[in-house]
Amino acid sequence: MGAALAVDIAGLEKEYRRQDGTRVRAIDHVDLRVERGEFVVLLGPSGCGKTTLLRTIAGLEQADNGRIDIGGKTRFWSERGVAQPPEKRGISMIFQSYALWPHMSVFKNVAYPLQSRRHKLTRQQIRDRVGAALTQVGIPELTGQYPSQLSGGQQQRVALARALVSQDELILFDEPLSNVDAKVREHLRVELAAMQRALGFTAIFVTHDQTEAMELASRIAVVDRGRIAQFGTPHEIYHQPASRYVARFIGAINEIEGRVVSIEAGTVVVETDHGRVVSTQPSSGILVGDEVVALWRPERGHADTVEPDRANRWRAVVETAMFVGSHTEFALRSGDLAARLWSPRMESIAAGEQVWVSVDPHDVQVLPREDSTGVQTAEG
Ligand SMILES: Nc1ncnc2c1ncn2[C@@H]1O[C@H](COP(=O)(O)OP(=O)(O)OP(=O)(O)O)[C@@H](O)[C@H]1O
Ligand SMILES: [Mg+2]
Repeated sequence: MGAALAVDIAGLEKEYRRQDGTRVRAIDHVDLRVERGEFVVLLGPSGCGKTTLLRTIAGLEQADNGRIDIGGKTRFWSERGVAQPPEKRGISMIFQSYALWPHMSVFKNVAYPLQSRRHKLTRQQIRDRVGAALTQVGIPELTGQYPSQLSGGQQQRVALARALVSQDELILFDEPLSNVDAKVREHLRVELAAMQRALGFTAIFVTHDQTEAMELASRIAVVDRGRIAQFGTPHEIYHQPASRYVARFIGAINEIEGRVVSIEAGTVVVETDHGRVVSTQPSSGILVGDEVVALWRPERGHADTVEPDRANRWRAVVETAMFVGSHTEFALRSGDLAARLWSPRMESIAAGEQVWVSVDPHDVQVLPREDSTGVQTAEG
């Protein structure tokens, strides 16, 4: 495989008109730069525009505005009337359904993209390429089978082999793992990541599964109603979410709403109905008087039977304590404040007990409350 392709998207917009005449902004001014050989995951809830974005990159759908460069070449540019057809873009796409031809053997399915004139291969060359692709995905023995005779996982490998056989340097994946059970899915995920690293193609992968996104991605683009809410490494997205929407979408989070009463030397104090919450995490753009939300991850909290020496602490009752093997998950309540806490220790604390729940100021993040942008403010 040659050099993987970078993707550069600027000012992309796409609107659909529904049957009732209302308009939907499926892509709302998206700028996105995917580097060569990167594994980028588009993550967001159903209907946020992931598939539409993928299809416009592939050329299966045309955007209203904007520009798409792939491998340094302009493939779409609304202003100049550029719209290269999909087969010229050197891209493979793997769909949720795999889209295998049911009447064709595994060999024929995989060989299919090579039949086009673009490749100009002899029959022997086609046989070699198909054989190599099936070996790469670990199913050389299945060449004669038909798709209906394969497991979900095997079908996925055939789809991947079909993408690999063209030696395309950009592969787009639209939720390809959603049809297989959890265990197989986990296994295929690891394999896919290894294969992508070994072969070096650029991957753009759509999912609404955050675990899948965290595991696969070099960077995650969190999509919110057609917009990119944040684009960053899994670590950045998890530990420095740019908004409440991102914080809520990735992983579990504890929240307390309040108002900023002081900001001094990097310490933000938030007045809440449950007392003052102190944060020492950087919080750009936050001013005294702002309506905010203080957030922390369940694994950063503590539960103690004696009063701890931490700025943020509450007397709470343990509502549930669930041992899940690697850690225990606690649901705690302090008045009308609900908090979740995960701890690898403290297996001795049981439901019904009174404890102190606390969190260090450096584990608390302060973000704008952003009621108006569609994030529900109700608990849960
Ligand atoms: N052909 C179409 N005509 C009208 N509206 C459309 C069309 N295709 C998609 N939409 C709308 O555009 C929005 C984005 O759809 P899209 O399929 O990109 O979402 P998605 O993020 O892939 O969702 P899912 O996770 O459910 O697959 C949705 O509101 C959808 O109803
Ligand atoms: Mg979709």
